Amino acid sequence: MNKSFVKGIMVLLILPVSGYAAETDYQAAQTKYLDDSRNTAIAFKTKLGGILKAQLETAGTESAIGVCKQIAPAMAAEYSKNGRVVKRVSLKARNPLQGTPDDWEKQSLEGFNQAKREGKPLDTLEASAVSSDGRWFRYMKAIPTQAQCLQCHGKPSDISASVKALLRNEYPNDQAVGYSAGEIRGAISISHQLNITQ
Ligand code: HEC
Repeated sequence: MNKSFVKGIMVLLILPVSGYAAETDYQAAQTKYLDDSRNTAIAFKTKLGGILKAQLETAGTESAIGVCKQIAPAMAAEYSKNGRVVKRVSLKARNPLQGTPDDWEKQSLEGFNQAKREGKPLDTLEASAVSSDGRWFRYMKAIPTQAQCLQCHGKPSDISASVKALLRNEYPNDQAVGYSAGEIRGAISISHQLNITQ
């Protein structure tokens, strides 16, 4: 018996124990979680973008670093409830502890970059899947780099000396620089636990 056959059987066995009596319930759960993920990603992005823009305009770039450092992870934690986990990930993370993608996230981010090269509009790029053990519904939505992001994620000439110094101090392993507007900065990644009954 080959390996993929064994895996196929395991998935079939796991699904009923994880709370779904019938295949139709499982499909319904996926539709529900896709809707929820799309809404959550847009709400998260709109709220964080608004706070960041206000902070940049009223208090300046140095102070807005705090929005990204404290508010973004706090907001991700706030949206992570009822079996849902929300994160921001990137192929070039600033904060490797929070932002390093797992295998599926990495694959999806590479897929987004490929789609961008093929000319697809960035704000339509999303991916979804069920994890191979059948326990998680996964979703990702691409985050485009906008002009206002460049003062902290752009080329060396876009970033002021004082911001560079602050970033160097806070993030010695920072990879999240060198971007241009219109590139993919990363993605919002959302996982829903499928064996939860609500
Ligand atoms: C004022 C500086 C600043 C600006 C402006 C800024 N960022 Fe960031 N960004 C940061 C910091 C600092 C972090 C690391 C946060 C942490 O510690 O988790 C970060 C992290 C991120 C992450 C998480 C992945 C990673 O690299 O760790 C994404 C995604 C991201 N930023 C996207 C954006 C986008 C999109 C914009 C523009 C709309 C933007 N940022 C504007 C400072 C900034």
